[in-house]
Amino acid sequence: MSDFIPPYPIRHPKTLGGLDTIKHLRRDLLSFWTENAFTRKFITMKLLNRTLIIANLPEAVNYILIQHYDNYQKKSSLMQKSLMPLIPDSLLISHGDLWQKHSHLIRPFFGPEQLTTFSAVMQQTLHEQQERWGKLPTTNTLPMLPEMRALSATMLCRILFGSQISDADCQALTKSVAAYLHSIEDLDVNTFFGLPTWVPSLGGNKSGKAAKAVHECIDKIIATYSPANTNSLLGLFLSLPDLSPAQIRHELLAFFLAGYDTTATTLTWVWYLLAQCPDVEQRLHQEIDSVLNDTEALADLPTQLPYTRAIIDETLRLYPPFPMLSREAAAPDTFHDKPIPAGATILIVPWLLHRHKAYWEKPDHFIPERFLADAPVKPTPFTYLPFGFGARECVAKQFSTLQLTLSVALLAQHFRPQTKPGLKVTPICKVTLSPDNDVPMTIVKR
Ligand code: HEM
Repeated sequence: MSDFIPPYPIRHPKTLGGLDTIKHLRRDLLSFWTENAFTRKFITMKLLNRTLIIANLPEAVNYILIQHYDNYQKKSSLMQKSLMPLIPDSLLISHGDLWQKHSHLIRPFFGPEQLTTFSAVMQQTLHEQQERWGKLPTTNTLPMLPEMRALSATMLCRILFGSQISDADCQALTKSVAAYLHSIEDLDVNTFFGLPTWVPSLGGNKSGKAAKAVHECIDKIIATYSPANTNSLLGLFLSLPDLSPAQIRHELLAFFLAGYDTTATTLTWVWYLLAQCPDVEQRLHQEIDSVLNDTEALADLPTQLPYTRAIIDETLRLYPPFPMLSREAAAPDTFHDKPIPAGATILIVPWLLHRHKAYWEKPDHFIPERFLADAPVKPTPFTYLPFGFGARECVAKQFSTLQLTLSVALLAQHFRPQTKPGLKVTPICKVTLSPDNDVPMTIVKR
């Protein structure tokens, strides 16, 4: 069992003052917590005029995301405002009847039959990655984060638009979306502080212009790849009678936005953690060497590789790509004797819950074994939620599990990415959680 404690941002001995909190939040949503926050059940924060309630206990996760989801289905103004110019009517940020209708139409796209089709695309892309890494000279150093971003973008673009999408189109979309995300970093922080909408954000109207560029890029891609497109998500959308072209564009973009960086950062963390823990890596190799057969269809791989899955689960526990989930209360409510006014923002923070001292043994250690079926202590229900819970759980949870398992298994089958000894990589979160550097690694052949 690994004794490795992977890096995490500084935790303050006592609560920071308002201005210090704002200073930290502008840089990173993870580095303003106190040590104490990892032991508390509720935290109420006042920032300028805004009250935020952090519900940091499993009962609250169940209450807000599942049992009383109707009252808490609206995502916070933070999320709404930052993504509205790009994907105004999409599953990711809508609520009420619109969300209901889109959810009903879209969730079947990720059923078992589709997953088998998508898994063939994932495998083909991973075989190409194997070939590329196989041709690297013995002495090589790659920045792993951009490497995984390119892999994840190619896989997702082929699934969204069809395998014939060109690398140039895929890169153009990735670049325009990255520019959009950059444009909303400041906007996010302003909105988080509850500043009125008329206060100009540091970004000015950058996000409007960046959204227009993304829309032009994706419209061109949709026009190019729409004909003869049956096996992609675009093909599935085009088969629906009652979604407008703009809605299809926004849903495809929402998938790209929600799925591209989350997968890339998770894979980067997996390689980093494995390189620090040779014992875990060795057990992974034993499992994949005994199960993988090059010719097999691999759609049911996640069930055949429990240790590989456990490594992925533990990586998502330590580094959840969405470390904070936020909701707005529609009507006033009371929970655990705490009044929740209408319009209040409730934060459920996987970053805290996944490392909460009351619910996890050695919460900051990397211990994949805790997720195995025979683990002596099972995770406490509702303390582990990298994909959320309830009606708004990640629509692509199974898809992502398959994609992550295939990627780790097929690449670790032939390669051992290694870091320089002692390389420190710390998580940072502006929009989603990611490594704070490109994670240089050497690809060693097995
Ligand atoms: C490691 C990979 C991923 C993680 C950790 C992840 C995590 C999440 C989480 C936590 C939510 C819920 C947010 C909330 O409750 O506020 C969510 C929602 C969503 N995710 Fe994922 N996601 C991943 C990959 C993907 C992929 C690959 C796609 C698309 C292909 C995707 C599409 C979506 C969509 C559309 C929603 C909104 C669902 C709704 O509100 O009904 N995600 N995801």
